[in-house]
Amino acid sequence: MSYKKIKEGLYSVGILNPNLRVFDIVMKTDFGTSYNSYVIKDKKNALIETCHHRFFDEYVENIQSVIPLNDIDYIILNHTEPDHSGALERLAELCKNAKILCSRAASVYLKSIVNNDSIKFDVVKDGDILNLGSLDLKFIAAPFLHWPDTMFTYCEGLKTVFTCDFLGSHFCEPNVTDTRISYPEKYKTALKGYFNDIFSPFIPYVRAGLEKLESVEFDTACVSHGPVLTDRGFLECALESYKTWSKEKTRTALCLPVFYCSAYGYTRKLAETAVSEIKKLVKDAETSAYDIIEHNMEDLASVMNGSDGFMIGSPTLNRNAVSPVRELLAMIDVINGQKKPIGVFGSYGWSGEAVPSIVAELKSLRLQTIGEGLKINFYPSEDDLEKMRLYTKEFCGAFNR
Ligand code: FEO
Repeated sequence: MSYKKIKEGLYSVGILNPNLRVFDIVMKTDFGTSYNSYVIKDKKNALIETCHHRFFDEYVENIQSVIPLNDIDYIILNHTEPDHSGALERLAELCKNAKILCSRAASVYLKSIVNNDSIKFDVVKDGDILNLGSLDLKFIAAPFLHWPDTMFTYCEGLKTVFTCDFLGSHFCEPNVTDTRISYPEKYKTALKGYFNDIFSPFIPYVRAGLEKLESVEFDTACVSHGPVLTDRGFLECALESYKTWSKEKTRTALCLPVFYCSAYGYTRKLAETAVSEIKKLVKDAETSAYDIIEHNMEDLASVMNGSDGFMIGSPTLNRNAVSPVRELLAMIDVINGQKKPIGVFGSYGWSGEAVPSIVAELKSLRLQTIGEGLKINFYPSEDDLEKMRLYTKEFCGAFNR
């Protein structure tokens, strides 16, 4: 791709990456992604977002297809994660006349991202206006969407808002805009996956961001991953989906799942005992035992992070919890899970490090474990099952309300 005209005076100059299958180490990207960046041409010219450093040469070519680098007056960064700022240092050296505009938090991060004291950042605040000639850009603070640095940039004259990750998707759309997406259901899957991965820990901020967008009129959202959203395509769908996904849940019953792995059924027996006990002790509790290897990990993470508390059981292998248990715990939402009670248990054969290692890890994340967990040697006897019942009772006691 070189560039794409979005509207008169507005161009997309970002990078398409259709072959990417894992983003930022952990995010699956079955539909590729894009690193979007935009040029607004007026008396003064602005470049909004940069891109991943890996694509620097192609990116510079794209920009130059639209505008000489010396004619760029402003580089605006709505968010500084290196997939959007990685190219900044080299680009700033080529754009001799450009001022770099960003939020205060972004200026702090950028200092350590570019590591070049000759590059200066101009801080803009919520509500500040930048006049480009015939067009004004308004900066709208949008913290924690999804970093503290985030802001939106709004251009009333173009009826366009630049939202960086917000409303984005890991979906590589060759047409750049959203009016000719060949596989709309796949796009919707990508939109939801992106929301889950990036924004689900920041739900109150999502609601605040949507409210801010409601106060401005726009027909186009220039996101930083995935297709540009328009009122002829998926803009309404994305906004409505975000509203639905960020709605406050009204739930009367407590959700208390029990996750486990078990090679010989010993830890499973403990898990099943826990479920029976939870059903007895917590009225109307929604509870089930989930054998981790029998489920999709993203689905389990969604259950875990949407729960009111959970229990997790692991045998010991190589002096540690088994890898599916560790993989699930690596997906825990540590922001919204701080006060969530977590019970830890497991059967072991020789030394039984799984339970203490899980407890230690959860404590290091400042999460709330129930005591030091419960470990049982080999096949749980009736006495062991009674210990499991008592431990589960302690877990359930955390929900007295
Ligand atoms: Fe696309 Fe938070 O970076």
